[in-house]
Amino acid sequence: MAKKILVLSGSPRKNGNTSYLVKWFCEGACAKGAQVEVVNTAFLRYKATGCISCRQCQKTAKYECVIDDEAKPVLARMALVDVIVMATPLYFYAASAQLKLVMDRMFSLYKWDNKADTMATPLEGKTLVLLASAFEDIGLDTLEKSFAITADYSGMKFASLLVPDAGESGDIVKVKGARKKAIALGRKVA
Ligand SMILES: Cc1cc2nc3c(=O)[nH]c(=O)nc-3n(C[C@H](O)[C@H](O)[C@H](O)COP(=O)(O)O)c2cc1C
Repeated sequence: MAKKILVLSGSPRKNGNTSYLVKWFCEGACAKGAQVEVVNTAFLRYKATGCISCRQCQKTAKYECVIDDEAKPVLARMALVDVIVMATPLYFYAASAQLKLVMDRMFSLYKWDNKADTMATPLEGKTLVLLASAFEDIGLDTLEKSFAITADYSGMKFASLLVPDAGESGDIVKVKGARKKAIALGRKVA
């Protein structure tokens, strides 16, 4: 069966390095027959500045964010796909705020029972992929670690591609091996 892949791209630059990583990854995944959807989290219309910690999602059995905006159906689709890809430029040694706007609202995709000390999530068994580019090779490992811990906590498999030496828009095209590695990763997880 064709794998379903949801790509969240968190760069405000439409033709930036992140967009190349996404394009190449999708090229690989589509070549293997995957169904791929790409959402740029920088251009969704939001009703809140990220997760507002209202905890309303914890009061219902549904894995659903109560904030009714363009991020809500994207979050719902995360529960239905096989692979979730998060693509981000490195911003101050972390993911971009544009990606975090959606990421933090993934709180609604977990149910915690603190008394029983249990957690349940439909993300379990899926694969999380991190694609990231940066100007220099400092901090990409920190970013990767935060995503790897999230994947582990959620019972997800994890894969990543980190590309330094990409500062200006499109510089990534000149980084040796970046395109090949992104296509290969797309093929691998599809
Ligand atoms: C707000 C901001 C913060 C950044 N912080 C870092 C950083 O901490 N380390 C780094 O190497 N590059 C940093 N950069 C550079 C970007 O990570 C790099 O140019 C990336 O490839 C941009 O991807 P894009 O073209 O998809 O936007 C920063 C850029 C911006 C705009």
